[in-house]
Amino acid sequence: MKYKIAVLPGDGIGPDIVEEAKSVLNKIGEIYGHSFEYTEALVGGCAYDATGTPLPEDTVEVCKNSDAVLLGAVGGPKWDTLPGHLRPEKGLLEIRKALGLYANIRPAKLYDSLKEACPLKPELIEGGFDIYVVRELTGGIYFGERGRKQTENGEAAYDTELYSTMEVERITRKAFEVARKRGNLVTNVDKMNVLESSRLWREVVLRVAKEYSDVNLNHMLVDNAAMQLIRNPKQFDVVVTSNMFGDILSDEASMLTGSIGMLPSASLGKGKFGMYEPIHGSAPDIAGQDKANPLATILSIAMMLRLTFDLEDEANSIEEAVEKVLEEGYRTGDIYSEDTKLVGTKEMGRLVVENLK
Ligand code: IPM
Ligand code: MG
Repeated sequence: MKYKIAVLPGDGIGPDIVEEAKSVLNKIGEIYGHSFEYTEALVGGCAYDATGTPLPEDTVEVCKNSDAVLLGAVGGPKWDTLPGHLRPEKGLLEIRKALGLYANIRPAKLYDSLKEACPLKPELIEGGFDIYVVRELTGGIYFGERGRKQTENGEAAYDTELYSTMEVERITRKAFEVARKRGNLVTNVDKMNVLESSRLWREVVLRVAKEYSDVNLNHMLVDNAAMQLIRNPKQFDVVVTSNMFGDILSDEASMLTGSIGMLPSASLGKGKFGMYEPIHGSAPDIAGQDKANPLATILSIAMMLRLTFDLEDEANSIEEAVEKVLEEGYRTGDIYSEDTKLVGTKEMGRLVVENLK
């Protein structure tokens, strides 16, 4: 089979990690007889530098004409003084919106060989944990009305958390469907004791839940959820939450796995189409230095193969290769500890390729 993939390396370490992910994909193609055709396009700060906007029209077209999108990372201090609508991050938010990718799935799983890198006490992570954060991605405070105004206390600024019933319904359904294939438990996270938007959110979750009476459901306020994640991560299966709470909780969950450099993500919409990216940022301080951990991006490729292309064996092959390389003790700087072998971005990529079956 032939698959068309839009490749958006972005800024900072984006190009470093995307390069390794592509070599993994190429090797998978060789082994299993698929061909992957890449079309590169610009997003983020590099797009702003080249075209004056963080998301050129052409990039949206390239993505729409592809079967899936592979994205690196965007942003960097170089663009920090730009107004909000020209910032690199705006390019990322707009591409998610333009492609209708409302569901962001972020699996946080503890690899046995990375137990040492988890900051929690060993007894808290005995037997590991395997959490799926299902984050709403195209609504809420990220996209609500915002602005500035003059008040008697000086300049003021506001951002609005706004959710429609439809938006909550579809992300809730996604979470329940995912949970059915996993541990059959959904934890809804909101802040309904304070926010009206959360009260609507919770009402809708409860309503939709009636269609999924075979799946267990519980609710947590977001402050408690942040605490429970480090108190007892094993209690979670699927966590469904809003755009901003999901942004924050997924970074927290990632650290439990040892490093934010380990977490892949899939952004999905209605059909099979998806955008795949690591959850970490562009780490400009180590860009181009062969130091970044490419595993989150490589694991994102596994998610692409499984979720968009239905290539389960190929996806497993990548995940098993990553596990093997970790078991053999190879580590990039972010997950390095004494008694392990420090390698760079390229060598880590090469090791994964070498272990593909
Ligand atoms: C993420 C990132 C983005 C977000 C930024 C770069 C806009 O933090 O994907 O988690 O907040 O969604
Ligand atoms: Mg984030």
